Amino acid sequence: MVLPLPQIDLTQLNNKTVLVRLDLNLVFDGETLVDQTRWDKVVPTIRHIRSANPKRVVLLTHFGRPKKQESCWSTERLLPVIQKDFPETRYVKQYDPNLTESIVLLENTRFNHGEYDNDVTGLDDMILHMDCLIFDAFSVGHRDHASVTGLIDQYPQVYFGPHFIQEQLSIDASLSGETPRVAIIGGAKISTKLPLLNTLIDWADHLIVGGGIANTLLLANGCQMGDSLVESQSLGQAKDILARCADKLILPVDGITNTGACVSFDKATLNADEQILDIGPQSLMRIEQTIQSAKTIIWNGPLGYFERRPFNHGSEQVAKFIAHSNAFSIVGGGDSLSLINQLGLQDQYTYISTSGGAFLSYLAEGSLSVINTWRACHETH
Ligand code: 3PG
Repeated sequence: MVLPLPQIDLTQLNNKTVLVRLDLNLVFDGETLVDQTRWDKVVPTIRHIRSANPKRVVLLTHFGRPKKQESCWSTERLLPVIQKDFPETRYVKQYDPNLTESIVLLENTRFNHGEYDNDVTGLDDMILHMDCLIFDAFSVGHRDHASVTGLIDQYPQVYFGPHFIQEQLSIDASLSGETPRVAIIGGAKISTKLPLLNTLIDWADHLIVGGGIANTLLLANGCQMGDSLVESQSLGQAKDILARCADKLILPVDGITNTGACVSFDKATLNADEQILDIGPQSLMRIEQTIQSAKTIIWNGPLGYFERRPFNHGSEQVAKFIAHSNAFSIVGGGDSLSLINQLGLQDQYTYISTSGGAFLSYLAEGSLSVINTWRACHETH
């Protein structure tokens, strides 16, 4: 039997220590906070939990992809953002049950031994002191990590938070969206996104690619990409995608290099030190036409190095094309999100998701690892 995901039951939280797994992987450019939407979206979750008078709310998140305990990825950097809404929050490196604060922010869960390998021993001490788990981090729900599927396995009492449920329902709506359907996929997380193109192609009528994914596909297609962001270990996969999706795939035909030159991919050979940092004007024209004809649009990931001017141009144009179209539009991923916020276009999209890779996984599989794990633990057959 397929059970609905359990939503927060306030009657169960009074005087309890509640562990809340969030995704506070906020967007920074160096020291500067660029986007805090992921935090803003879960503030209502925390307020809702607190209305039940729990003993303590313990916030757990990952931040970046640290390989070791690097201070630039410490959650202490997130504390000022959280304290603006909840001044009483205390950041701790290690959970201590004798703390008196009502909200505690734990250190980056990716600093724990075993996090990436779904080995919960690094979380054991902390888990002992929590009465229940609220999972409100849809955007990391595709990871088989200790603080994701590992935690779900550990707790008899798990609830999915309101933001998680909202993300799920909105992506479900886009999956059954009208045709023509257009998917636009960019960004730098090549190995996460490339395999998903294979399944997305079944949903989409047109698949537009940009950023590092496009560079890798162009390289696989025989273009010399110089020093551009590519993932050479994914070339085999890229070739398979080219063979399978050629009729639907819209690859950039031109790009802007780090020197500001516009190059056409059918003619140019980049020098070894040249990088493609944005899509070019011919590519943008084709993208605009495709977007204008769409009834449903899914967008995930910028199409160039949008953090640095003038290479934000292509991504900004695409953000505007979608905003001005009449299609059902859903955008996901931290970077696309921050771009739309910077441009003030939030209200011109049907739904803005805070999820990137998870958004794509859910599109591809109709589920997430965290949902599958919960179902395996709780559903009877
Ligand atoms: C994201 O940024 O998409 C989520 O926070 C997940 O991060 P990850 O891709 O590093 O697992």
